Amino acid sequence: MKQITLNNGVNMPILGFGVYQISDLDEAERCVSDALEVGYRLIDTAAGYCNEEAVGAAITKSGVKREDLFVTTKLWVEDYGYEPALKAFEVSRKKLGLDYVDLYLVHKPYSDYYGAWRALEKLYKEGAVRAIGVTSFWNERLADLFNCNEIKPTLNQIETNVWRQQWEADAFMTKHGIARQAWAPFAEGNNDVFNVPVLKEIGAKYGKSTGQVMLRWLIQRGFSAIPKTVRKARMEENFNVFDFSLDDADMAAIKALDTGKSTIYDEMDPESALYIGSVKYHD
Ligand SMILES: NC(=O)c1ccc[n+]([C@@H]2O[C@H](COP(=O)([O-])OP(=O)(O)OC[C@H]3O[C@@H](n4cnc5c(N)ncnc54)[C@H](OP(=O)(O)O)[C@@H]3O)[C@@H](O)[C@H]2O)c1
Repeated sequence: MKQITLNNGVNMPILGFGVYQISDLDEAERCVSDALEVGYRLIDTAAGYCNEEAVGAAITKSGVKREDLFVTTKLWVEDYGYEPALKAFEVSRKKLGLDYVDLYLVHKPYSDYYGAWRALEKLYKEGAVRAIGVTSFWNERLADLFNCNEIKPTLNQIETNVWRQQWEADAFMTKHGIARQAWAPFAEGNNDVFNVPVLKEIGAKYGKSTGQVMLRWLIQRGFSAIPKTVRKARMEENFNVFDFSLDDADMAAIKALDTGKSTIYDEMDPESALYIGSVKYHD
């Protein structure tokens, strides 16, 4: 598996497996077990996905060596602020059944994420996490966060797919040495993304599916991607993207699909801030 070296020297597989919207714990455990069998070594969960214990159970049963795994989890907004963040991390670590987490992310750019970030810095310095980062931070918030704190995020996980290609965020993060990771690499299937004619045509040239073309396009841009599926055959399909390359004409044709807009939600929309900022997962 191709690796991305984060700005603190830690290596991370470029392709991982995401477990959002698999909240049934038995199903989540089965999915992670299947993904590990297929060969995925990066698992992306979050406190807010309510399935960290299932991820932990699958890891324990898999027999895969801990040092061969890269486990990401995320701090939810309701636990932002210094002390609540430290407490929430211990809950996540316990649910995952891990001594350390590979990558710990501040999940959304709302509420007291400065206090949360200082807690993540402490966890990093103590060795409880190997790397720290953020998700869904747009450029201005990302800039201010690293300008006003000691440790720069290693990574920003942002929605990136053929509809929302994130070229400005890409340029800014590349300039500042922050790794780019695509959430919703398939736009959650929106706008019939798996049946876009140009993606089908490109796929036909290489004997690949539209899903494989979309993942390959992200990887060739230097993005890590964490596709989600509950089906083992699709896990295999999504994993099998390292034996072909898109050419410049393919990359340009895909670039033309950009709408600059999310089909899911826009974090900069005040209504998103109000709604997401008020979601709670525990008392
Ligand atoms: N940081 C954040 O705020 C944030 C937000 C959202 C997501 N994420 C992370 O990113 C991961 C991926 O994003 P996502 O789950 O939102 O959406 P996604 O990966 O873009 O799309 C998942 C959808 O695509 C389908 N699918 C997967 N592989 C396919 C294939 N080869 N052919 C046809 N359909 C396929 C899945 O269906 P089936 O499952 O039925 O196969 C599911 O409906 C999440 O699981 C999570 O780890 C992070």
